[in-house]
Amino acid sequence: MVNATQSVAHSVHLLPQTKQLRALHTIIRNGQASRDDFVRHASRIIRQLIEAGLEQMPFEPHQVRTPIGHVYDGLRITAPLCGVSVARAGDSMEAELRTILPGIRLGKILIQRDKVTKLPRLYYSALPPDVMNRHVLLFDPMLATGGTALAAIGVLLDAGVPEQHIVFINLLSAPEGVAAVRERHPGVRMVTSSIEERLNENAYMLPGIGDFGDRYFGTDVAPRDELPR
Ligand code: URA
Repeated sequence: MVNATQSVAHSVHLLPQTKQLRALHTIIRNGQASRDDFVRHASRIIRQLIEAGLEQMPFEPHQVRTPIGHVYDGLRITAPLCGVSVARAGDSMEAELRTILPGIRLGKILIQRDKVTKLPRLYYSALPPDVMNRHVLLFDPMLATGGTALAAIGVLLDAGVPEQHIVFINLLSAPEGVAAVRERHPGVRMVTSSIEERLNENAYMLPGIGDFGDRYFGTDVAPRDELPR
């Protein structure tokens, strides 16, 4: 895995690898973690990722007067925003975004790999009608081969969103996926909490986390915390 002292391309923002972040990763990467632990601790990392994504937005100076009459030289985000999640795993991030910014506009994209061609296929998209005027936080917790990511970014570009207005947020990223996005869309910024070692032959990340969607939504086989006692 890439650690905080290794260089990452300027388009990739790797969360500082603090002890606290590594402790959260230790819980969710444990194959024995209960679903409840997985969801709670993944959500804490997702919040950090969203805050880091918001840091990528354009800001302008904004002064306020404090309760004791002094001026605070602050900042505020200038651009209209929206969140777009790649279903189903991205829905986990949408939930946290709604907690941080309850009124934010939300879009959804459903892409699945075609069983015959193995290529990602777009099944559904619903975006705010003025998405081309917004900065977009694009959510997919797992950036593996980059196939789904490229397809999702393509949907946004087709809707008129400039690359420079897309911040792609992942919990785990494979070097292969990062390279694919960077080569095809150098203007897209990525925010991640870990760059993994590599993909295995089934396109799972190593050391990885398993299937994020199954673990988050409880659709993995015989969840430990719900087995009959
Ligand atoms: N999707 C996942 O859920 N996990 C991986 O490791 C890769 C893709």
